[in-house]
Amino acid sequence: MPEPVGLAPHGLRLGLTNYGDPDFALYLRRSFARSMGYSLEMLQKPVIGIADTRSGFNNCHRHFPELIEAVKRGVLAAGGLPLVFPTISLGEVFLNPTSLMFRNLMAMDTEEMIRAQPMDAVVLVGGCDKTVPAQLMGAISANRPAIGLVAGPMLTARWHGERLGACTDCRRYWAKFRAGEVTPAEIDEVEGNLATTAGTCAVMGTASTMASLAEALGMILPGSAAIPAVHADRLRAAEATGRAALRLAAERLTPDRIVTPHAVENALRVLMAIGGSTNAVLHLTAVAGRAGIDIDLKKLNEISDSTPVIVDLKPTGPHYMEDLFAAGGIGAVLRELKPMLHLECQTVAGETLGERLAAPPGPVDRDVVRPLAEPLQPVGGLVALFGSLAPKGAIFKRSAADPKLFEKEGRAVVFTSLEDLSARIDDPDLDVTQDDFLVLQHAGPLSPSGMPEAGYLPIPQKLARAGVRDMVRISDARMSGTAYGSIVLHVTPDAASGGPLAKVRNGDRIRLSVKERRIDLLVAPEELARRKAPPAPVPERGYARLYRREILQADRGCDFDFLRKHPLGDSRAH
Ligand code: FES
Repeated sequence: MPEPVGLAPHGLRLGLTNYGDPDFALYLRRSFARSMGYSLEMLQKPVIGIADTRSGFNNCHRHFPELIEAVKRGVLAAGGLPLVFPTISLGEVFLNPTSLMFRNLMAMDTEEMIRAQPMDAVVLVGGCDKTVPAQLMGAISANRPAIGLVAGPMLTARWHGERLGACTDCRRYWAKFRAGEVTPAEIDEVEGNLATTAGTCAVMGTASTMASLAEALGMILPGSAAIPAVHADRLRAAEATGRAALRLAAERLTPDRIVTPHAVENALRVLMAIGGSTNAVLHLTAVAGRAGIDIDLKKLNEISDSTPVIVDLKPTGPHYMEDLFAAGGIGAVLRELKPMLHLECQTVAGETLGERLAAPPGPVDRDVVRPLAEPLQPVGGLVALFGSLAPKGAIFKRSAADPKLFEKEGRAVVFTSLEDLSARIDDPDLDVTQDDFLVLQHAGPLSPSGMPEAGYLPIPQKLARAGVRDMVRISDARMSGTAYGSIVLHVTPDAASGGPLAKVRNGDRIRLSVKERRIDLLVAPEELARRKAPPAPVPERGYARLYRREILQADRGCDFDFLRKHPLGDSRAH
C-alpha cells in the first residue's frame, strides 16, 4: 500500500527518483528494496550509507569487510538501516601516473553518491593516503551528516631483529641498496617484510597524518586515528562509529558545523606537532576549500613557528604508529596542545573538543609523545618558503632535513622531467657535487605526470656510494610523507604553468634560507624574461583532460576550482 510522502522525509524517502509522481517513486523504490529481503519495518528506519573503498588494488583496505561488518552492527544496534555502497578506491602504489591525480575524482564520486542516494548520514570508510582527504572533500561538499572511520596503521614486522615498517624503512633500505650496502638477496627479503598486515603505512606518513588531522578536525571518533588496523579496538571503534552515525542523523549535525576555520587551525597545529606529511598541507587546503576556508601559507608559518614537534615518529624519529597508539594516541597530543587549541569546536562524537579534553587523561608514554615544555623540536615540522623561485610558495619539511643545509647557496643541476631524471641521475659522467642543488622540473600539478611523489630525488649513485646522504633538492612535485631529506617541494607556480622553476638552467645559482623562509633563483629578471617556457600539452579526452583544464596549483590544494565552495574564477596558473 502506498505510503504518503510528507512530513520530514528521511530514510528511503529522501531524494526520490524523478518520475513526475513521488508516490510511485517511493512505491517502486520500496518494492526494489524489498527484493533484497528487507522487511518493511527495516525499510522505515533511518538509512546510514557506508562508503566502502575496498579494492583488490588497495592492500591498505584489505580488512574492510570485517570493519564494515562492525559498522553495520553499530548501525543496527542503534536502530538504523546500514546500506553499503562502493566508491572509487585509491591504492597508493597501484596508480599511474600518481594517486593525487585521482583524489578529486574520488571526491566527486563520494559527493555525488552521498547526494544522489537516500541516506540520513554516511560513514566514510577510508585510509590509504588520498582516500581520507577525498572522502572529507566529498562529504563536506555534499554536507549531509558524515563521520569517518579510518583503516588504522599496519603493525611493524621483524627482520633480523630489527623492526621494519612501510614506508620510511622502504626508502632507507632502498638508499642502502643503491649505495651498495645491501645485497640483492637482502633487499629481496626486506621487500617481503616491509608491509605485512592490513592497514595504512606504519609511520607518520600521509595516511597517518590525514587520520590524525581527521581526528583533530572532529570528523572521526576521538581516539580512533592511531588504533592499529588489526587491533580489536579498531573493530570496537567501527561499531561505535556506526552508532554515532545515527546520532548525527538525528541531530542533523552536518560537516559545515564541524569543519570551521577554528577546526582547520586546530588541524594545522596538530600537523606541526606530529611532524606530519607535506602532502597534508595540500589535502587540508583542499578539504578546507570545500568549506569555503582558505589556508594562507603565511598563516601556516605562524602556526609552525609557535607549535613544537612533540611526537617522535618516523620519518622524523624512531617510533611507529603502533607506538603512538600505545602512548596515548592523538588524544595525548591534543592534551599537550590544549592551551593553543580552539576548544569550542564541535566533533562527530556530539561533544566539543574542550569537553573531550576535560575527561581524565590516560597514561602517556613520554618517549613517544613529549610534554609541551620538553619538545622534540622547538618549532613545527613544516615551513612555507617564498621567493623569486616560488612566488606563490613552496613547502620544506625542516623536521626531517639536515640543518646543515638550511642556509645555503648552490649551483643548479637541472632535470627537465621525470624521464630525464631517471635517464641521467646515475650517469657516472653527471656533473654534480654534494654542494649542488638538484632541480626537477615538470613534475607539478599541471604536468602530464600529475604531481607525483618524486620530490625525493635520489642522491646520484656516485655520490651515494661516496657516502653522501642528503643534498638540497627542489621541485614542483610532492614527497611521500614517509620520506626525509632537505627537500623543497610544491614550488608554485609549477613549471608546466610557466613558473620561474621552468626557467632554471644548469649552472644557475639558487639560494635557500630556511631562517628567512626564502628560496631564490639568483638570475637577473631580464635574463629570465628571455628564457621561454613552452606550455604543457592538454590531453585530448577523458578525466585527464578535465584534470588538466581544472586543476588548481598547490597553494589551492590542487582541487578543481568548480568544486571549491567559492570558486576562484580563472586562476589556475596564477
Ligand atoms: Fe596505503 Fe601507504 S600505501 S597508506
